[in-house]
Amino acid sequence: MDDIEGKILSNRSIAPGHCLLRIRLSRPMGVVRPGQFVMMKVPDGGVFLRRPFSIYDYQKGVLTIMYKVVGKGTEQLSKAPEDTPILTLGPLGRWFTVSRRNIPIVVAGGIGFAGVYALVKKLQGKASIFFGCSTSDEVALLKDAVPFHPFVATLDGSYGFKGNVIQLLKIHLNGLKGKNVEIFTCGPDNMVKSLRGLIEPHRIPCQVLLEERMACGMGLCFGCVKKTMDAQEPYKRVCKEGPVFDLWEISL
Ligand SMILES: Cc1cc2nc3c(=O)[nH]c(=O)nc-3n(C[C@H](O)[C@H](O)[C@H](O)COP(=O)(O)OP(=O)(O)OC[C@H]3O[C@@H](n4cnc5c(N)ncnc54)[C@H](O)[C@@H]3O)c2cc1C
Ligand code: FES
Repeated sequence: MDDIEGKILSNRSIAPGHCLLRIRLSRPMGVVRPGQFVMMKVPDGGVFLRRPFSIYDYQKGVLTIMYKVVGKGTEQLSKAPEDTPILTLGPLGRWFTVSRRNIPIVVAGGIGFAGVYALVKKLQGKASIFFGCSTSDEVALLKDAVPFHPFVATLDGSYGFKGNVIQLLKIHLNGLKGKNVEIFTCGPDNMVKSLRGLIEPHRIPCQVLLEERMACGMGLCFGCVKKTMDAQEPYKRVCKEGPVFDLWEISL
């Protein structure tokens, strides 16, 4: 797989510390599935390794990424103006697979929404969407999901349910007893651990998108391994065997 050259169409702040980046690619990326990611070369030197980002959207040669500024790479990226040339490699990794038999529930925490939005879009209102964040500022990330009526939890209670998203999900799950549900999730480790604790007694099927740190993004360096529950195969690479995993397959 070769790099795809592109140019930044827009790169704007959508909430404090969060940006939406749109890139016009010089050639098609091919088929893109929900949960897949790209390795992006941060423009303007100083950051050697590429950074992985979920494909938020891809239409008519335009790739959209939603990102949170956390360190040097994303800080540099947030400063890149329109027309900056940028290299991306992708689409990479395994994707979410949806079964027609189950009722889909999507659970996202903060910028984890960027990892599940393509799935939300594909499910076109069939999924219940749960989103948790710290304050009402971050609710702006959900702008594109508004038509799908997401359930929102904020830790400070400034929007929607006061508390964390797993507490909110728990209330909803009580009303779905006896139904075949399946959960798709992406978010901070604590959220995923808490989700696991909630659904473990019921063994609800759950696919999780893991955002491990990566170096090569192509399965070569083993820098992104995650421990599994399988003694025969105790480690898996997030970039190659993931980033989407069966929650019950991996060790958190
Ligand atoms: C498959 C995949 C998809 C991703 N999709 C998105 C996305 O759509 N939007 C988005 O904002 N981010 C996403 N990420 C996370 C993103 O890659 C990191 O935030 C980014 O690489 C940080 O780069 P940096 O140079 O700004 O931070 P660094 O300077 O490298 O690190 C700054 C701080 O962030 C922490 N950090 C860095 N990477 C991660 C990580 N992966 N998980 C937890 N903590 C980390 C570091 O430990 C450090 O404390 C994704 C990661 C993966 C693996
Ligand atoms: S990042 Fe190199 S093997 Fe996954």
